[in-house]
This record gives sequence, structure tokens and C-alpha cells, in this order.
Amino acid sequence: MTAPSLPPGHRVLVSELGESPTDAIDHHLTLIPMPAPDPATLGPKDVLIAVKSASVGWVDLLMTSGQYQHLAKTPYTPGLEYAGVVAWQGPEVAHVAVGEPVYVDGFLAGPRSLGAYQAYGGFATYAVAPAEAVRRLPPQLSFDQACNLLGNYETAIHCLLTCGKLQAGETVLINGASGSTGLAAVHVAKLVGATVLATGRSDDKLAVVQAQGADHVLNCRTEDGSPGVRRFREDVKALTGGRGVDVVYDGVGGDISVESLRCLRFGGRFLIVGWAATPDVARGKGQRGAPNVNVLPTNIIMMKGLTVQGCPTVISTLNDPSLRPPRLERLLAWVDSGALRPHVSHVFPLTEFQEAMRAKWRGDVIGGCVVRP
Ligand SMILES: NC(=O)c1ccc[n+]([C@@H]2O[C@H](COP(=O)([O-])OP(=O)(O)OC[C@H]3O[C@@H](n4cnc5c(N)ncnc54)[C@H](OP(=O)(O)O)[C@@H]3O)[C@@H](O)[C@H]2O)c1
Repeated sequence: MTAPSLPPGHRVLVSELGESPTDAIDHHLTLIPMPAPDPATLGPKDVLIAVKSASVGWVDLLMTSGQYQHLAKTPYTPGLEYAGVVAWQGPEVAHVAVGEPVYVDGFLAGPRSLGAYQAYGGFATYAVAPAEAVRRLPPQLSFDQACNLLGNYETAIHCLLTCGKLQAGETVLINGASGSTGLAAVHVAKLVGATVLATGRSDDKLAVVQAQGADHVLNCRTEDGSPGVRRFREDVKALTGGRGVDVVYDGVGGDISVESLRCLRFGGRFLIVGWAATPDVARGKGQRGAPNVNVLPTNIIMMKGLTVQGCPTVISTLNDPSLRPPRLERLLAWVDSGALRPHVSHVFPLTEFQEAMRAKWRGDVIGGCVVRP
């Protein structure tokens, strides 16, 4: 198709990895001019997207310091997941057309992907993705919601349903429930008919989590504001008729993991989703190793007959690609029926990408945070 004449724009560049995400945000990320990619240089199956919204995710932050499992080669543009409008498509792309709203699959394009499209993140006016990564925007979703869909909800489905085998009528304790994957887990657990107990550190955020579907919320801050979490096992026992929960979904790690083991019933399942409270498990600047790794008490696990399961969505899917099609089918059916809508609490213009990333790092966000070029 004829090359359009597109105005220049901007993109964020990570010039080198930081010691920590905050170091990277303060010193190694800049907004630079970006000419529109020239379609003459693109392939027949490429799609050029004018980005409207890009998710600011926890993984986007960790990648800037190389403390995430997948190392991006610098310089790169962050923004694993984004949504926008097709500005040009290669002659072999038939499923979308110029002007159509789309969202991009962060497994197959962008800085988290493994192939040639890593250079194009969503923190930019334009991005290029292969046809297979580009999906039509469902009419039920806005650009902001669509770029907060796949990573968060596929994680929730993989962890809770594929790994955790959560059933209707069971009770699940969700740590970090105000977070992107945590709130997705609240939605997914309610959709399969489970009772949800949600933890968090802020009454205001927990009120939103409850409005989003959690049956019970528990503030886990210590009474005197000191580090760590308060003892909340009695609250959980009281809410579960003295029995304890069937499943824990733990995206927080550290002290809350140990308290949550105490909240499980005998024979319960503990799902390790992440460690938002201890992001410096690995060394900064992309040095590998895990000097600050979280540890769990084997005595509690043993005596309560618990199953502890690590639930890495991307790695499990790379090991067994057959996991993904049924997961996507289930997720998209919920979207189509109107049963599921990602919640996005914070929206920033791309020019304020640093403030957006700081808001996400501080934990101001409930559900999703986006930047709009
Ligand atoms: N297993 C997987 O496949 C997979 C996929 C994606 C992400 N993850 C991991 O899952 C974890 C959560 O990701 P996310 O995207 O949901 O992150 P997020 O949006 O930042 O949410 C994390 C939540 O944890 C809570 N939290 C409790 N203590 C905290 C502390 N000391 N510092 C910061 N947050 C704290 C916060 O809620 P309150 O402020 O309400 O307490 C926050 O909303 C991360 O470790 C991420 O790497 C795993």
C-alpha cells in the first residue's frame, strides 16, 4: 500500500540500564524526537501503528534496571503493551486496515518479545509490530483498557486457574489486589465464582478493590506504621468459618507471604505470582543472580500439607505453547460478553512518562496506568 506521509513524533529511550528503576527513571530515560518509520523499510507482514495509549507496567519498570528475567538490549523504547490506530500495513496483512483501532500482543512484539520487534515499545508516537501481534480492538474496550488486558489477565488466568485450579465456591486470598495483576485476579476469581479476600496497604485503594468485586478487604499495614505486615490470620479465619482460605495468590512477597501461609486451610494452595514488595531480589544494571531472594518457611508448608507453586506465565507458555489458545479464548469471551473490563486509574501524556512511572513505582495506581503519546 502507498506510503502515507506521517508527521514526526517522539519516543522514550532507555539509554542504559539503571541500578534500580528509580535510578533509570531519573538518569537514563529521555524523550527524544522520532521520525515516522518509513514504510519502504518495513516488511510485507508489518503493521505501523500510531500509538494512542501504552500501559505503564511493573515489568516495564523492572526492565529499565535489568532486574526482570528478560533483559532488553539498550537503547530501547519501553512499553510492553500498547494500543492505537493502524497507520500503514504491509501488502500481506489482511485482518486489519488503515484507520482501524488495534492493540498489540506484548508476547509477540515490543521490548518483552524475543524477535526483531523488540526495538519498538509503546512509549512512542509510532510502533511497528508483526501482523500476528496485532489484534482488532474489541468495541467494548478503550485504548487505555486494551493495553492493560493481555499481560494482566493472562497472568491472573494462568496463576489462578491453570496453576491454582481455583473452583467455584472456593475462597482465595489475593495479595497486592490493587495492582495490575492483582485486580485482574480479583475480576477472574469472581468470574469463576470464588469468594475473594483482598489485602492492601491503603483503605482508599481497598475501597476501590471492593467496588471492583472483592468480597472482603483487609488492610495489612502494621498498627504503628513500621515495616512489615500486621497479623491478619485471625481476620481470615473469622471470614472463613475458622477454616482458612483454599488458595493464596501472592504477587507481593516478603513478610506478607509468611502471614498468608498461616491463612491457608490444611492442604491449601499457595501461588507465587511475584514479589512487588522486594523488587531488588536481583542485582541492578542487568547483573544476574538473586542475592536478596525471598525465602518461605518449610515447617509451615510441611505441617499444613500445603502445595506451593511458582506461576511464571510467560516462561510456562514458552515451555508449553498449547497453554495460550484456550486462555485467550476464555479471556476474550469474557471481554465480548461485557463481563470483564480492565480498570485504569491513572492517565498521563507521554511527555510526563517519568511522573507516570514514579506513580506506578510508588503504588499510587489501582489496576492500570497509561501514557498517551
Ligand atoms: N507470575 C507472572 O506471570 C507475573 C506476570 C506479571 C507480573 N508478575 C509479578 O507480579 C508482581 C505484581 O505485579 P503487578 O503488575 O500487579 O504490580 P503492581 O501493579 O505494582 O501491584 C503490586 C501491588 O503490591 C502491593 N504492595 C504491597 N507491598 C508493596 C510494597 N512494599 N511495594 C510495592 N507494592 C506493594 C501494592 O498494593 P497496595 O499499595 O494496595 O498494598 C501494589 O498495588 C510483580 O512482582 C510482577 O513482577 C508476575
